[in-house]
Amino acid sequence: MKYIKLADYNASDIILGCMRIRDKTSKEIQELVETAISCGINFFDHADIYSGGICEENFGNAINLKSAEREKMIIQTKCGISKGYFDFSKEHIIEAATGSLKRLKTDYIDILLLHRPDPLVEPQEVAEAFRYLKEKGYVKHFGVSNHTPYQIQLLEKYTDEKLIVNQLQLSIVHSKLIDSSICLNMNNEQSVNRDSGVLDFCRLNDITIQAWSPFQKGFFGGVFIDDKEYSKLNTLLADLAKQYNVSKEAIAVSWITRHPADMQVVLGTTNPERVKKCCDGSEIRLTRKEWSDLYKAAGNIIP
Ligand SMILES: NC(=O)c1ccc[n+]([C@@H]2O[C@H](COP(=O)([O-])OP(=O)(O)OC[C@H]3O[C@@H](n4cnc5c(N)ncnc54)[C@H](OP(=O)(O)O)[C@@H]3O)[C@@H](O)[C@H]2O)c1
Repeated sequence: MKYIKLADYNASDIILGCMRIRDKTSKEIQELVETAISCGINFFDHADIYSGGICEENFGNAINLKSAEREKMIIQTKCGISKGYFDFSKEHIIEAATGSLKRLKTDYIDILLLHRPDPLVEPQEVAEAFRYLKEKGYVKHFGVSNHTPYQIQLLEKYTDEKLIVNQLQLSIVHSKLIDSSICLNMNNEQSVNRDSGVLDFCRLNDITIQAWSPFQKGFFGGVFIDDKEYSKLNTLLADLAKQYNVSKEAIAVSWITRHPADMQVVLGTTNPERVKKCCDGSEIRLTRKEWSDLYKAAGNIIP
């Protein structure tokens, strides 16, 4: 497992995402988390809204976050999505974070992310909420998810806290963060700038990108592994998997971890065997050609 420097943490570059553990028993969650830890994962991602809080609650019931082992785990959660709208008010952020603490049964959250940008954001309120949570010892660090460079700068204008993470959707088949910079100033679909250059902004400002949905086609559209729609990509994944003596999943993970921005991959699988397969990808260093061939096999051009 490769580790990256993230604030004062040595964080695994693979994260176990906990969005899909709603129907898992405590025993199943324990097995999943133990497997992840045995593979070197020390980072766990949550959100208050995952199944209306049930995922955090299940995790808190299954894993003793009051134990000595807590210090070895980096627990991240998110807030700011309310029922049908976004809410970055001071009141909502504090209420959401304290709710997460209760459900997870922990004394502190390592990193709290603002989940999706609130169009009615009042950054002074966010700053006040962050100050309160920090002073109380409830949250150690802050970050965002799905935020543009200007949205990050606006928040940082008012808060003393450095925003250390931006969690964004990225996979070989959903590579919008990369596409437009490759095809700058061209007429094709790839050249459409959908993200305001957020990848380079994050690199310039030491903000760690966490790639969510590393196996999904589009927005929860099913996985591309073994999908006939992506037969060329799957053939190449299989060839590289054979060459590196790992699974196709590991190669798909390595396509993200190979990027020099030191990104983290947020896995969503609830299957311990798949966690193991994916972790094999952390330390594989694809060549430039292999990385580019995978990008092209997913249907993109390199002009
Ligand atoms: N910040 C945001 O806005 C945002 C949005 C979405 C998600 N997230 C975070 O990102 C994490 C990952 O998202 P995700 O669950 O969509 O990611 P994912 O890893 O792309 O998808 C995992 C899902 O695909 C299934 N799957 C089927 N075949 C698979 C294969 N061969 N390899 C891997 N998975 C396979 C898994 O089922 P099994 O469980 O049966 O393996 C699971 O249901 C979430 O847990 C959450 O923490 C953040």
